[in-house]
Amino acid sequence: MPDFFDVVLKQRACRAFRPDAVDDALVERVLEAATFAPSAENKQPWVFVVVRDPERRAAIGDLNRRAWEGGAKSHSESRLTPTLLDEVDRGAQGGIAGAPVLVVVGGDTRLGDRRVLAASVFPAVENMLLAAGALGLGAALTTLPLVFGDELAEIVGFPFEVQPIAVVPLGWPARPMGPPKRLPVAEKAHRDAFGSPW
Ligand SMILES: Cc1cc2nc3c(=O)[nH]c(=O)nc-3n(C[C@H](O)[C@H](O)[C@H](O)COP(=O)(O)O)c2cc1C
Repeated sequence: MPDFFDVVLKQRACRAFRPDAVDDALVERVLEAATFAPSAENKQPWVFVVVRDPERRAAIGDLNRRAWEGGAKSHSESRLTPTLLDEVDRGAQGGIAGAPVLVVVGGDTRLGDRRVLAASVFPAVENMLLAAGALGLGAALTTLPLVFGDELAEIVGFPFEVQPIAVVPLGWPARPMGPPKRLPVAEKAHRDAFGSPW
């Protein structure tokens, strides 16, 4: 198993996957990591639907594509670097739906106020991404399909009380991914008060 910092410092969004299956034992390991995340009042409001069914994956892929082509792409065109725009475009056009597993992550509103529910679910999603990386799997946090959240909820049969929060593709990366591009700590951290350099 790789060192924790090797995993964290290499963590990247994977949007292109080999078709090879990911067995349940690995998926469960990823989900186990997710369920060890913190949550407000330890209510653990996360819900995971592991989608392997090709029709449902295609339907989720269709939401991705519609959200992207229906406005998200034009919104992003001037905001993303050409490389990132191209990666998100390929992901939305079928790369993400090409993952053998799509985990639709929800939040149970009976276990947390709707306004802060996501804050109790995203730490679990981050644990999934890190666990996937530690196992050599590719994964990504995606929210584009939430543009059609009601349809997403229907595809996976969420009851009214469960709100879709993210879709995480899981699979073997189609190709090695380069290092993440991140700003140095010194550009983000302050000592004692904002503006005082680290
Ligand atoms: C809240 C959130 C929503 C995101 N939604 C999407 C998405 O819908 N589709 C997608 O391809 N990537 C999505 N991403 C992934 C980001 O684009 C990615 O984390 C970021 O560009 C950094 O890229 P890297 O992981 O390749 O370094 C999302 C990330 C976050 C944190």
